[in-house]
Amino acid sequence: MMRYIHAGFYPWLLNSKIEIGKRFYAVSKMSWNSLGVFQPVFIHTFGIGSQIIIGDDVGISGCTITALEKITIGNRVLVGSGVLITDNDGHSVNPIDRHISNDIAVKPIVIGDDVFIGARAIILKGVTIGNGAVIGAGAVVTKDVPAYGIVAGNPAKAVGDSRRAVLEHRAEKLS
Ligand SMILES: CC(C)(COP(=O)(O)OP(=O)(O)OC[C@H]1O[C@@H](n2cnc3c(N)ncnc32)[C@H](O)[C@@H]1OP(=O)(O)O)[C@@H](O)C(=O)NCCC(=O)NCCS
Repeated sequence: MMRYIHAGFYPWLLNSKIEIGKRFYAVSKMSWNSLGVFQPVFIHTFGIGSQIIIGDDVGISGCTITALEKITIGNRVLVGSGVLITDNDGHSVNPIDRHISNDIAVKPIVIGDDVFIGARAIILKGVTIGNGAVIGAGAVVTKDVPAYGIVAGNPAKAVGDSRRAVLEHRAEKLS
């Protein structure tokens, strides 16, 4: 299992940190995920005081999580292969300043407990994903997702409710 977890270039100088809870599972090897992975897990902070906080029992397959400010991930979250979670734009949208300033838009991301993020989804800056939500494969999430919502597409929109999925599953088992 190869992975790269990297608290900034000089974490002691930048006061950045990555905290990971108990029983964390990171898959970076092709054959260890049913879909395969095309990159190792890469978790990276790179600003002054930037933080990534990950809860307990979180499982992640070949994906990038990168914070300039803060990304919080709850307990029992599953992150699919090829996902990108970034709290910043990487470069300024202003073409005049792009090469000379650090005017990079940044807003923290909060991912609640029991969230499932499908393969190749992208979670962009400022998004809060509520507990129990599901993010469809390939979704580009630009707005908050309510607790137990199921969203998909680009930009991601509601396509269901994970509570209903639980009820339907139970009803099927009983019938
Ligand atoms: C989001 C997801 C959970 C929804 O599953 P579901 O509740 O069974 O939803 P349905 O297949 O009934 O689709 C509901 C609607 O959403 C659309 N939809 C579902 N998944 C979508 C996706 N990933 N992107 C775009 N639209 C999607 C469907 O086309 C359908 O649209 P319609 O109502 O206009 O016909 C599922 O499609 C998905 O993306 N799963 C993740 C798979 C994955 O990445 N696995 C990796 C595991 S590590």
